[in-house]
Amino acid sequence: MSNRKLRAAVIGGGLGGHHGYAYAHAEEYELVAACDINPAAFDRFFERAQIQRGTIREYTDYKEMFAQENLDVVSVATPDHLHANPVCDAAEAGVKGIFCEKPLCTLIEDADRMVETMKRTGAKLAIDHTRSYIPSYQAVKKAVWTDNEIGGLTRIVAHMGGHRSMLFRNGTHLVDAVCYLANADPVWVIAAHERGFEEYGTAYKGEGGKDPSLDPGSTIIVEFANGVRGIINSAKMTPALFEFDLQGPGGRYWLTDSSCTAWKTDKPEGTPTEVAPPEGRGYIDNFGENLIPAVQEIAQMVLNDGPNSSPAHRARYSLEIMQAALISQSKGSAKIQLPLPRA
Ligand SMILES: NC(=O)c1ccc[n+]([C@@H]2O[C@H](COP(=O)([O-])OP(=O)(O)OC[C@H]3O[C@@H](n4cnc5c(N)ncnc54)[C@H](O)[C@@H]3O)[C@@H](O)[C@H]2O)c1
Repeated sequence: MSNRKLRAAVIGGGLGGHHGYAYAHAEEYELVAACDINPAAFDRFFERAQIQRGTIREYTDYKEMFAQENLDVVSVATPDHLHANPVCDAAEAGVKGIFCEKPLCTLIEDADRMVETMKRTGAKLAIDHTRSYIPSYQAVKKAVWTDNEIGGLTRIVAHMGGHRSMLFRNGTHLVDAVCYLANADPVWVIAAHERGFEEYGTAYKGEGGKDPSLDPGSTIIVEFANGVRGIINSAKMTPALFEFDLQGPGGRYWLTDSSCTAWKTDKPEGTPTEVAPPEGRGYIDNFGENLIPAVQEIAQMVLNDGPNSSPAHRARYSLEIMQAALISQSKGSAKIQLPLPRA
């Protein structure tokens, strides 16, 4: 392919505005259009994208946008349960790279359809489980798995707190980051939801993710194929927090979105002392800045078949863990094997 810029567009004018910011500030791209079924959403889009209204085209029908714009890459930032159709329709329309907001979707059948459509069309799909693109998270993963700094990994204890501790809406970030750091496929799940959600049932009821009363916090134990075990805890009526405690025989990393603390011991299972953490910045305050490395990676995926830090394969497993948590709760916290059986 020539050195021309990739033509990008965004579907969904809320959080999608930050995707617009990333495309507008990444040299690989020309942001050409945005789409929202609600024209009132464009004010919000342009404010977040920090670009002048009138500099890109506006659509209220994404199929018309696909037909008019000859797009290379599209972001999908519609509500949580409305990702599958725009993602699949983009791939069918010939879009080569798709950046979909998290969670991948809220139904296993949608996840399977998305993965199948990518395989058939050859389109590349990355999911905005944002920590996959944050240098401090990448540095800890490298320290554990490439540089063997703490002799392997045994446990990951992850916490999310605050009133938006919702399994599907924000818990997907926690679950997927544990999958990212565990570096293997999950094999079983045991779960117990927070009080008040005991009878939630086995079907997602979050209606797109705006109402915390429709989406439970949950305590999930998940075992991975390589023996790593994750304890993933989320509950409302707790302080707002988001953190990961990674423990191996030779040390420990305590990782938040803004800091990392590291401890090591020379003796396996010995008493560790604090050491300098792996280098890498955490989240940037302007959310769109965090997405620039992601859209740049997607450009490499499209142009050079480059690696994908946040693939649909892992996002589908994250969804399976969340769905298995619902099933486990409904069966008295039974152990649920993955992958889940298909109908
Ligand atoms: N990565 C993160 O940290 C992060 C943060 C916030 C939200 N999100 C995710 O971003 C997504 C959007 O969240 P939000 O808060 O912006 O939701 P929102 O409901 O505020 O905005 C979604 C927009 O999509 C539009 N839309 C719905 N169906 C459409 C369609 N078929 N075509 C075009 N537009 C359509 C709606 O009109 C709305 O303006 C969600 O999946 C959410 O989980 C991710």
